[in-house]
Amino acid sequence: MTRVWNKSDWRAKPRVQMPDYPDQDKLDAVEARLAKYPPLVFAGEARRLKNELAKASRGEAFLLQGGDCAESFAEFSADSIRETFKVMLQMAVVLTYGAKVPVVKVGRMAGQFAKPRSAPTEVKNGVELPSYRGDIINELDFTPEARNPDPDKMLQAYTQAAASLNLLRAFSTGGFADIQRVHSWTTGFAEEDKAEQYRALSNRISDALSFMTAAGLDSESVDAMSSVSFYTSHEALLLEYEEALTRVDSTTGQIIAGSGHMLWIGDRTRQPDGAHVEFCKGVINPIGMKCGPSMTAEDLKVLMASLNPENEPGRLTLIARFGAGQVTEHLPRLIETVRAEGANVVWSCDPMHGNTIKSATGYKTRPFDRVLSEVREFFAVHREYGTIPGGVHFEMTGQDVTECTGGVRAVTDEDLSDRYHTACDPRLNASQSLELAFLVAEELSNRREASRAAG
Ligand code: PEP
Ligand code: CO
Repeated sequence: MTRVWNKSDWRAKPRVQMPDYPDQDKLDAVEARLAKYPPLVFAGEARRLKNELAKASRGEAFLLQGGDCAESFAEFSADSIRETFKVMLQMAVVLTYGAKVPVVKVGRMAGQFAKPRSAPTEVKNGVELPSYRGDIINELDFTPEARNPDPDKMLQAYTQAAASLNLLRAFSTGGFADIQRVHSWTTGFAEEDKAEQYRALSNRISDALSFMTAAGLDSESVDAMSSVSFYTSHEALLLEYEEALTRVDSTTGQIIAGSGHMLWIGDRTRQPDGAHVEFCKGVINPIGMKCGPSMTAEDLKVLMASLNPENEPGRLTLIARFGAGQVTEHLPRLIETVRAEGANVVWSCDPMHGNTIKSATGYKTRPFDRVLSEVREFFAVHREYGTIPGGVHFEMTGQDVTECTGGVRAVTDEDLSDRYHTACDPRLNASQSLELAFLVAEELSNRREASRAAG
């Protein structure tokens, strides 16, 4: 008899990258309270996203996933959510034009708070303290009090996620995302950005829309273009939080993680017998899995069988994050494994996490040309194997930050100190994000040419 999965089964498995809360009673009380709160997302939405991702796995759609490395309590504002949402819409327009397929928009938003770290402690001037693990766990300030994990922060994270999602839902359906407003999303562009290219594109879209209206497009189709589907995602790292928001869908009896539409497992927490895989196994949400250079063919095989035993299309997205110059070495063995297993997956590319370096000025940064290279390599390997590059995963923000070097506006090592706001990894700014979208669009139109030639 097979054992039925239970949302707390992960507790019996080895866990990594999670805090040890010093106050067990407080932790229990917070979990009990969260367990009574409404879920943030619903099973029907997760199923819809899964269908859209199934299309991406077949090349009939393309996944755009992006947002902060770590959302922050201090930087939380309607403006910053709107700006990031706007840049994602701009990128989606550019990608749709290149790919000629729908773009599935998934924010690293409304729940992306907990962070895995490369070391459990941090030493400054001879003082050693626990590492900062994201605002849902502890604080960035370098004091013992700030670095102490506090369960109450889960309640604040829930509140912020709920407010963010409320705003995102309003932006998606309340007129802001109406494709007829494609021109108005350019506010804030500087001339040296891809502004000209974007404007030319929006002119063509406006022309096409005018033509369709003149040709008598019915009002239902016009309505369909005045709103977008926008989904949320985050790394399912803090399992007490995830378990507390897990719900049974009343219409189907299925179990859903109510904290966000899509959850992913990080490169540091994907042990086949570990707590994180155990939790993700049992919920119906689409699951992402980061694949770094240490991912073996055997692990991938076991993980796919465990996370997607029914081989359901759209359930599993493999997010390759190897670093520029490393894709040709590592991606082929994963592609061959997926092929040998006959597995349905979405292949996505995260060109951020394998390309983090320390700048000459001491900042953690990512050179934009290496980010671009990794994207090109990812597409090239898929071209060679005849497999489908189905999506991209970026750390980005709508704010005009200086965290990654390079780009048309050429952020230098010296510029990094100007507006370096991230609490964790360096993000692409709005200008760099758009530049990257144009590169991906070019690769996608090559993908289209290639499949046309083949078919
Ligand atoms: C992240 O996406 O912020 C992250 C930590 O990624 P990875 O697990 O790929 O290192
Ligand atoms: Co990151």
